[in-house]
Amino acid sequence: MNVYDSDRMSDVLAPLGYAPTDLPEGADMVILNTCHIREKASEKVFSELGRLRQLKERARDQQGRQMTIAVAGCVAQAEGAEITRRAPWVDIVVGPQTYHRLPELVSQIDPMARNRVIDTDFPEEVKFDFLPGEHAPRGPAAFLSVQEGCDKFCAFCVVPYTRGAEFSRPVATVVEEARRLVAGGTRELTLLGQNVNAYHGEAKDGKSWTLGRLIRELADIEGLDRLRYTTSHPLDMDDELISAHGDVPQLMPYLHLPIQSGSNHVLAAMNRRHTSDVYLAVIDKLRAVRPDIAMSGDFIVGFPGETDRDFAETLQLVNQVGYASAYSFKYSPRPGTPAASSDDQVAEEVKAERLESLQQLLNAQQFAFNKATEGQVVDILVERAGGRAGQMAGRSPYMQAVNFVGDESQIGQIVPCKLSAARQNSMTGEIVAIKGAA
Ligand code: 5AD
Ligand code: SF4
Repeated sequence: MNVYDSDRMSDVLAPLGYAPTDLPEGADMVILNTCHIREKASEKVFSELGRLRQLKERARDQQGRQMTIAVAGCVAQAEGAEITRRAPWVDIVVGPQTYHRLPELVSQIDPMARNRVIDTDFPEEVKFDFLPGEHAPRGPAAFLSVQEGCDKFCAFCVVPYTRGAEFSRPVATVVEEARRLVAGGTRELTLLGQNVNAYHGEAKDGKSWTLGRLIRELADIEGLDRLRYTTSHPLDMDDELISAHGDVPQLMPYLHLPIQSGSNHVLAAMNRRHTSDVYLAVIDKLRAVRPDIAMSGDFIVGFPGETDRDFAETLQLVNQVGYASAYSFKYSPRPGTPAASSDDQVAEEVKAERLESLQQLLNAQQFAFNKATEGQVVDILVERAGGRAGQMAGRSPYMQAVNFVGDESQIGQIVPCKLSAARQNSMTGEIVAIKGAA
């Protein structure tokens, strides 16, 4: 979502004459869009700010130029005061719900007065209503935020505090944005939300629509060939959404569905409000309607009170599911969350060991998944130049990164591609024939 938000920030700043640049050197303004989910992400902000301070001083001393430094995102939201204390060279602190006000905030900066502006409100107004259209096309595969915030309050998670309460954008504004993106050349949309499948946006018929219903509506947009959504909570996988996986061809056969732990004891302590059986039943239902669906997930190891036996249950669950990919993290105590003050914290070495063995298993599953797709011919949406000269890159329906010999004229086309060789994190492919004019 930060990628999406960053693009929207550049939309809102474009009328002021700002345009994105690749490097901070020479920039008039640098915005760090930050993540607070784990301590590591958060701490990176301060080291990055140290580097930016030098750039700012050099711009001023050697070029007589002002460089505005802004911190946006969830670290700004949660640690605004700490940022201005530890990094007084920061000019603007702006939270995830107020970045539509950036033009106003920028105008309040006075380099002579060396003032600072902080806006970390949860405002009455909805930022989406104030954001202009896309200043630049988003490319073949783009993000679209449909839902923000979370009311679930998992015991480890800062999201309900930093992103605020659950909010769903009305159907009409989502459809309008999707149409605009497609008119600009986008063919694949990933619908975003911290709890995206809890979507319940207001529709013209006066009802609130589920994500499944919204997906069906978006699938009617001519030229929108692929849909994905992330991230979901198992309890919100309702039947309408599950059935969409069976009968909406645009909905890609890949789902990121975090469970965090395979132990019911840990799940309860995490306040996840479901058991591992509930999660496995959801996957069974998904596989019944879409047998080839590729599963992805998130795992936390070393949550307070997690025993060796609990952890063994996580490994067992992973074995039962068989993931195509997954993310796993050491539990990171976050300020203000209930689990952070538990006196049952797991030792760092134990977390490290568990993470290592979980990742070994997940990596093996990912490679096995890739290997099993070898020889298949699948549609690839060509997104960009690949890692090596003469190569292009895109994603398979299963979200695998695929590299193949091609040229830039193919960007934005959907091409049938034979997955010829599996690697750990990607596939090598060969285009078998170009489908009519894409
Ligand atoms: N420590 C470790 N991992 C966390 N996540 C969220 N909060 C924490 C935390 N305090 C992970 C979860 C979530 C993903 C986005 O980040 O696995 O699904
Ligand atoms: Fe955080 Fe997701 Fe739990 Fe919400 S459902 S509190 S975003 S982990």
